[in-house]
Order: sequence, then C-alpha cells, then structure tokens
Amino acid sequence: MAYARQLDGSVGTHNIATRSHQANTSPMRQLLTALLFALPALGFGITPTLADGDAAAGASVFNRCAACHQVGAGAGNGVGPHLNGLFSRPIAGVPDYDYSSALSQRAGAIWNPQLMTDYIADPGSFIGERSRMPAQRLRPDQVANLIAYLQSL
Ligand code: HEC
Repeated sequence: MAYARQLDGSVGTHNIATRSHQANTSPMRQLLTALLFALPALGFGITPTLADGDAAAGASVFNRCAACHQVGAGAGNGVGPHLNGLFSRPIAGVPDYDYSSALSQRAGAIWNPQLMTDYIADPGSFIGERSRMPAQRLRPDQVANLIAYLQSL
C-alpha cells in the first residue's frame, strides 16, 4: 500500500516535470496557452454586455441625468419626466409630462435597455428632429451600469 502510494507519487511528479519542460521549450505552446487564458479575459473586459451592469456605479452615472430627471420615492417631473419603472413604461408614458410630439409618436413601444441606449446616445436621431434632451456621451460600461441602476429602482 505504502509502496503503491509512493509509486503513484513519483509517476505524478515525473509527469508534471515533463509537462513544464515541454512548455518551457516550446514558444508556440506557450503562446497558445497564453492566448487560451487571455481571450476570455479580454472579451469580458473590453466588451461588457448590457447584463454586466453595476447598479451602485450606475447611481453615480445618473448624476449626469439628475439635472433634468428625478428617480426614487416621491420623484416628480422636472425638465424631463421622472424615470421610475422606465423599463416597463411605454415611450412618452408619464401622463402629466408634456412630451415633444415627436417622442409621443414613438409611444407604441415599451422602453427596454437597447431602446434607451440608442435614445440617450442621440435623442435627435431617435425622434427624427431636434430634441430638448441633449445627447449623452457615455462609454458602454457606463450605459450598462446606468441600466442596472434604473432596473434596481
Ligand atoms: C438637460 C436635460 C436632460 C438631461 C441632462 C437628460 N435628459 Fe433625458 N429627457 C430630457 C427631456 C426634456 C426629455 C423629454 C424629451 C421629449 O419630450 O422629446 C427627456 C426624456 C428622456 C427619456 C424618455 C422618457 C419617457 O418617458 O419616454 C429617457 C429614457 C431619458 N430622457 C433618459 C435620460 C438619461 C438616462 C439621462 C442621463 C444619462 C438623461 N435623460 C439626461 C432632458 C434631459
């Protein structure tokens, strides 16, 4: 029994030594191994998906909206409509807010993250005329965080 364990151990050690020896002497193998580990990391780091958002970070991104939009308990309309429950609301759906007629004409659809991403990047293109809401220059990760924040309200 003790002998078998010793034998297993020495076989295992031998395998590990052989593998690291091959890795050290094969630049191609080292490159491939590095790529295998690096590619998923790069994919997640550079192109965050809409689902990756961090609501806490999104709260500070919302500071850019807060001059015109209110959220949370007791939120009302300001320069723009309040944004509570945005992703279950129809476009131009706050009854007591005076929307542009161009945005009201889009009222058939319910806001979702993709629609909002398109809208805030260029409200004028979205409604087809000059908008009262200025375009928001945000990085994709900031938009993802903002979406997570709005979804958390
Ligand atoms: C300078 C003021 C201003 C800022 C800053 C601003 N908005 Fe707006 N927003 C408006 C106005 C005004 C409207 C209404 C536009 C219309 O009626 O065409 C609007 C409309 C919207 C709507 C449509 C709401 C609905 O009920 O259909 C969304 C969504 C929105 N804004 C999101 C944002 C987000 C997110 C930010 C920050 C990244 C932001 N806005 C920053 C003024 C602003």
